[in-house]
Amino acid sequence: MSDPRPASLQAAAPWWRPSGGQALVIRGGRPLTGSYPISGAKNAVLPLMVSALLTPHLVTLHNVPASLDVAVLAALLQRLGVDMHWSNTAAGLSVTICADRVHPGNIDGDLVARMRASVLLLGALLARCGEARLPLPGGDAIGLRGIDFHLAGLRAMGADIDLASGLIHATARSGLRGADILLPQPSVGATESLLLAAVMARGTTVIRNAAREPEIVDLAQCLASMGGKISGAGSHAIVVEGGTTLAGAVHTVMPDRIELGTLACAAAVTNGEVLLRHGRTDLLGAALPVLQAAGVVLREVESGLIACRAKAGLAGVDIVTQPYPGFATDLQAPVMALLSVAKGVSAITETIFEQRFRHVGELSKMGADIAVHGRTARVRGVAGLRGAAVTCTDVRAAAALVIAGLGATGETILGDLDHLDRGYDRMAAKLAACGADIVRPDDRQP
Ligand code: UD1
Repeated sequence: MSDPRPASLQAAAPWWRPSGGQALVIRGGRPLTGSYPISGAKNAVLPLMVSALLTPHLVTLHNVPASLDVAVLAALLQRLGVDMHWSNTAAGLSVTICADRVHPGNIDGDLVARMRASVLLLGALLARCGEARLPLPGGDAIGLRGIDFHLAGLRAMGADIDLASGLIHATARSGLRGADILLPQPSVGATESLLLAAVMARGTTVIRNAAREPEIVDLAQCLASMGGKISGAGSHAIVVEGGTTLAGAVHTVMPDRIELGTLACAAAVTNGEVLLRHGRTDLLGAALPVLQAAGVVLREVESGLIACRAKAGLAGVDIVTQPYPGFATDLQAPVMALLSVAKGVSAITETIFEQRFRHVGELSKMGADIAVHGRTARVRGVAGLRGAAVTCTDVRAAAALVIAGLGATGETILGDLDHLDRGYDRMAAKLAACGADIVRPDDRQP
C-alpha cells in the first residue's frame, strides 16, 4: 500500500515524509532504555480534526501525532476548502483549522479509500452544509466493517442517503433534527459520527448503546468547548442538545493509549526500562491488569509511566477483546507479540473484528507458536523469536511486528511500512532514541 498522491499529502501536511515504500530493518536484542514520548492519540485526533468542519471559527489542536492518517485527513479537508496552519515546536505538532468555506462535493476518492475514518466527514458535512458526497471508505482489511450504523443514525436524524456505484450521496436540505438512536453495537466511529451531526441538529439527540472509549470523551470535550451541549460522553447514553452555533476552540489531543500499551510491551519484551512520557495507567482500561499479569511492570512517576519486565519474567494470560473499558482490540496484536515469548499458553479471543489475526502468520515466520481456531488464537510461548522478513498487514499488526523484531535475535525486515506510519508518530525514530537498532535502509535514518 504505497501512497498514490504524496504531493497532495505534503501540500496539506508539510511535515509529512513519505516512506516511499521503504522497509524498516530492526536488529533485535537490545534492551530499550531512556525516555519515549507518547504522542497524541491517532483515534482521537481524526474526529477532532473533523469537528473543525462544524464552525467557521478557528479550531486549534495541540499534541497532534505526525502520522499518515493525519496527513490523509488533512488532504481531504484541504480538498473541501478548509485552510490549515501547522506549527511544529518542541512541544509537538499543532494545527489551526479554518473552515470558513466548505465545498462538500470535492471529496477525493483515492484518499477516502485509504482511511475508514473518512466516514466521519459524512455527519459533519451534512450538519454544516446539508449535503455530503463520499465514496465508500476504505481502511484496514480486518473485517467486514460496515457503515450501516452511521447511515441508519443519520437517516433517523432526517438525512436522505442514496448509495449508488460505491458512492454515498447524503442530503438534509432542511437540516438535521435530533433523534433517539439505539446503536446495535457500541461502535466507536458511529458514536462519533452521530455526535458530530447532533451538536448542530435541531432538538435533542440521544445515542444509546454508545461506545465509551476515552477518544469519544475527548471529542465531546472539544465540542463542549466550542459551545456544544453534551452530557453522558463516556457512558452508554449520550444526550446532545443540538441547534447550537459553534464557536472556535483550542484543544489538546489526549495521549495515545494504544501507543502506550505497545511501548509497555516493547520495554518488557526487550527486558529494558523505559519512561513512557505522558503515559497514565487510567488510559489502559482492562489492558492494565492483563499487562501486569503478563509480567509488565508499570510504575507511575510524575512525567508518565516507567515500564519494564517483572523479575519473575513474562507469563501467559487469557484475553478477550471487548469495547472499552474492556481489553482493546487495537492492543490484541501487540500483546500477542509479548505473549509469544511468555512462559505458558495464552488464549486470545477477538470479538470485535472478524479478520484480525493476519499478524499470526507473520509472527509465526519469526518462530512464534500460534494456532488459530475460529476467533481464538492459542499462543504457546517460545524461548525467543528470530528475525525474518515480514509484512505489516494493518496498523496494529505493524506495531506487533516491531515489538517482535525488537525482542528477536538477528535482523527483522518489515515491509509495507505505510501501515506503521498510518498510526504512529515517528515510532522508529523514537525507538532509536531509546537504544533500538532500527533503520530505514535507503537513508540510514530511523
Ligand atoms: C475504531 C478505531 C479502531 C478500533 C475500533 C474498535 C478509529 C479511527 N478507529 O474503529 O482503531 O479498532 O474502533 O475499538 O477510531 N460496525 C458495523 N457497522 C457500522 C459500524 C461498525 O457493523 O456501521 C461493526 C464493525 O464492523 C466492528 C464493530 O462494529 O465489527 C466495531 O467497529 P467500530 O467501533 O465502529 O470501529 P471503528 O470506529 O471503525
